[in-house]
Amino acid sequence: MTGAEDDRDVTQFESWAATYDSSPLQKRYFHPVQRVLLHHAASVAPDPAHVLDIGCGTGSLLRRARAAFPGSTLIGLDPAPSMLRAARARHSAAVRYVAGRVEQLPFPDAGFGLVLSTLSFHHWRDQRRGLAETGRVLRPGGTLVVADHFATGWLRPVFATAGKRDRMHTHREVDAMLRAVGLTPAGWRIAHTVTAFLHGSRHRACDRACGRACHRPFLPLVALCTATKPHGPATGAG
Ligand SMILES: C[S@@+](CC[C@H](N)C(=O)[O-])C[C@H]1O[C@@H](n2cnc3c(N)ncnc32)[C@H](O)[C@@H]1O
Repeated sequence: MTGAEDDRDVTQFESWAATYDSSPLQKRYFHPVQRVLLHHAASVAPDPAHVLDIGCGTGSLLRRARAAFPGSTLIGLDPAPSMLRAARARHSAAVRYVAGRVEQLPFPDAGFGLVLSTLSFHHWRDQRRGLAETGRVLRPGGTLVVADHFATGWLRPVFATAGKRDRMHTHREVDAMLRAVGLTPAGWRIAHTVTAFLHGSRHRACDRACGRACHRPFLPLVALCTATKPHGPATGAG
């Protein structure tokens, strides 16, 4: 893949930034995924000193994250300047936004207790390098939670047909990538379903987590992948 092809993903968000937050997809797709990810992240990493959102876009995950992590320093990173401008325009004093790519994170080693990412992983130019960088900035014992489309169940042949298998991986492939960069896979769960997307509601697992009832059948659409960085010598608060 060429650099120009890689940059298409970022360019696409440059042009979408102005209308991104008013898209009908926010309510049906982005917000439900963010809610489920935050609920899960708060249960597995209850009190991180520093939280990083990779591919933060216009910052909606981090604006919601304030309630889940009231004592944490929140930082969002994104390579698309227009997305970051939109994020900063909806200023929250509690959140800092930084320009950059996951493949070369502009942060020192072991600074974050929790790294999050919603619906960005399949846009990363070099996913393995991005995961390695994520591992570098996580403190030992820190947690990574990624929500994205993965090639699982009915999505596997869909992505294969659409020629997306180079970025849409199976759970097993992602677990192998995590291990290869020194992270420990810590489980998978469904974050959003086709049925919930179409009905504008959430999957029953999400509803259990969030305290609402939903009994419709579902097809997985977005999954949560959790990983941890093995404990090592203490290096600070994170
Ligand atoms: C679909 S948007 C999701 C934005 C946000 N996480 C949300 O849930 O609304 C994907 C984001 O990933 C960012 N992105 C693309 N390539 C990236 C990379 N290599 N490193 C970090 N972020 C990247 C894009 O600029 C875009 O803002």
